[in-house]
Amino acid sequence: MSEAPDPKALDAYLKSRCVLVDQALREHFPPPERWPAKLHEACSWTLFGGGKRIRPVLALAAFECVGGSDDLPYDAVLPAACAVEMIHTYSLIHDDLPCMDDDAERRGRPTTHVQFGEALALLAGDALLTEAFRLVADQAAHRGFFDPARALSVTSALARAAGWQGMVGGQSIDLGFEGPVDDEDALAFLHRRKTGELFRFSLFAGATLGDGNEEQIRALADYGETLGLAFQVADDILDELQDTTERGAEAAETPSFTGLLGLEVSRERAESLAERALGHLADFGPAADPLRALAWYTVHRDH
Ligand code: IPE
Ligand code: IPE
Ligand code: MG
Ligand code: MG
Repeated sequence: MSEAPDPKALDAYLKSRCVLVDQALREHFPPPERWPAKLHEACSWTLFGGGKRIRPVLALAAFECVGGSDDLPYDAVLPAACAVEMIHTYSLIHDDLPCMDDDAERRGRPTTHVQFGEALALLAGDALLTEAFRLVADQAAHRGFFDPARALSVTSALARAAGWQGMVGGQSIDLGFEGPVDDEDALAFLHRRKTGELFRFSLFAGATLGDGNEEQIRALADYGETLGLAFQVADDILDELQDTTERGAEAAETPSFTGLLGLEVSRERAESLAERALGHLADFGPAADPLRALAWYTVHRDH
């Protein structure tokens, strides 16, 4: 794909936006002192356990790309950015459970159910999912930065992306409940739902809350969905390179690009998907440079 971005600039961008996201998440999940402290601790374990924050950073980058940060404070987009990270976190907590991928470690630490037990891990996921919707709904009701219709469309898009036809539907295919996944089209269908939809949401939310026009919102959402697919192919490649003993027994058997196409072809696919994602940014000027750099990062990251 196109040239690598300046690594220092990319690193500085990622760090500065992660700080904004972390501060906002901390506002909603301060250190667990109050009731229900144990549940709170279980939610925080994975929420503050070293995630890359790619989805919320993409929401901020889309917000900036359409000029949102010129006219509005970041508070206009941070609740939606935090909401997608909470839903992502819940999806990981449930994904690691013994009844799903049965993973004992994530990001080099014990998974939530290993640390707190299965029941509390289940509840932590439930709590994060529900809290995410409270955040976007509160934003619609109280912040007053934008037309409430825009905020409502973000809430509805989040439900669609996370729900039965989005991420949850993708997980159902991934676990083999919806029939075999034995060709590339079926795999792309699965990954679009499992991963692409939340990426699409991040871009849609950032561009919508930044007051982008319809064309900009569509182009950025399409970039997001394609990038999500590239991200998942890159994830399959990273999983393949990982020692199989570090991976859960179920995870090793779930459908993957590397399993279907092999390592080399998967690498080519990740590159060409990222290139295709970049194509959706063609009508944007330098304001989209962080999104261009993030496309490169998506397929060249090392974890
Ligand atoms: C991992 O997502 C699961 C996938 C959808 C591929 P990330 O790689 O974004 O997870 P963290 O939050 O950065 O660990
Ligand atoms: C993670 O998917 C959960 C979702 C994307 C919803 P995977 O099972 O493919 O990813 P890892 O390897 O556990 O992070
Ligand atoms: Mg899984
Ligand atoms: Mg898994």
